[in-house]
Amino acid sequence: MSTNNKLLFLPGDGIGPEIMTQVWRVIDWMDKRRSVTFDITQGLIGGAAIDETGVPLPDETLEAAHAADAILMGAVGGPKWEVLPFEVQPERGLLGIRKELGLFANLRPAIVFDALADASTLKLDIVKGLDIMIIRELTGGIYFGEPRGIEDMDGGDRRGFNTLTYTTPEIQRIGRVAMDLAGKRNKRVCSIDKANVLEATVMWREEMVKVGEAYPEIELTHMYVDNAAMQLVRNPKQFDVIVTTNMFGDILSDCAAMLTGSLGMLPSASLGLSDERGRQSALYEPVHGSAPDISGQGIANPLAQILSFSMLLRYSFDMFKDADFVDQAVQNVLNLGLRTSDIMGEGMTRVSTSGMGDAIINELDKLAA
Ligand code: IPM
Ligand code: MG
Repeated sequence: MSTNNKLLFLPGDGIGPEIMTQVWRVIDWMDKRRSVTFDITQGLIGGAAIDETGVPLPDETLEAAHAADAILMGAVGGPKWEVLPFEVQPERGLLGIRKELGLFANLRPAIVFDALADASTLKLDIVKGLDIMIIRELTGGIYFGEPRGIEDMDGGDRRGFNTLTYTTPEIQRIGRVAMDLAGKRNKRVCSIDKANVLEATVMWREEMVKVGEAYPEIELTHMYVDNAAMQLVRNPKQFDVIVTTNMFGDILSDCAAMLTGSLGMLPSASLGLSDERGRQSALYEPVHGSAPDISGQGIANPLAQILSFSMLLRYSFDMFKDADFVDQAVQNVLNLGLRTSDIMGEGMTRVSTSGMGDAIINELDKLAA
């Protein structure tokens, strides 16, 4: 029996709290059926935190985040907070927690579930069986580079500027994450840059080559980001692991997610460095956003949140068997034809958020029987 695994739950905004409720049910199930006990704290982030405390990332949340073994987040943001000044918008909370916890490696799998392959906007044979892993650098690059800002110029015009910077250690550590992960997969890494235009990514490419030398069993290739965007929609199965900068990863991971036809299904993990106890800081969240347009209606798809929890079990606690249970339960409900509205298809059975949760628990019961 494992006890005392400290989790921090940050449901956030929009559909976040609704889909998080379904994860609580999976945790209750694990507690009863598999004697896996978690010590769970809830915290505020994003708009929910702004409403309560005036800021998107309260100190209390940050303290709880440092104390936790792993964090499960819902999503942040919504039109209600878009009118606020830039510095206090919900997104600052998300970027702040990534930076403060040093979560430099963002793992975004793009997987096509067999039962959903026909939901893609691409032809079936292009996407069937697709399984790529995008590794996005998450605490550097143009998202955080200085100087940045908007300044007044003579004559009333303004000048806006951001800075793309990367250091050798920043590139090397994300490079190693990519190589290590590829070693457990199909042993291919494609590093994506814009080395024909941007010096910081000329260096990115040079450092990746150096990292690659220590991994002779991994095939390392390089691609410019514009070509990569094109290749992703032309022939996505050519990729195994993609490693790229913060901003290119933001864009390409949305593109890859959409290839799967099921944005509502994709989980992600953001991992940091290990501390003295060997514990690695980690935050897990769905790739999709807070979907304010459908929040409160009980129709949101909870599967990406549930799969994010399964990633948490796998990456933070080595609970492979339990994670397999959860993943298998998700496969089974899809094979049974159950669908929330976002993935609804002909001849399928439409279920609500809690209906999907019921079905997952039901499948977990069967798997454990
Ligand atoms: C993402 C999102 C965030 C990002 C926003 C909400 C700040 O688009 O996680 O991909 O740009 O990193
Ligand atoms: Mg994004």
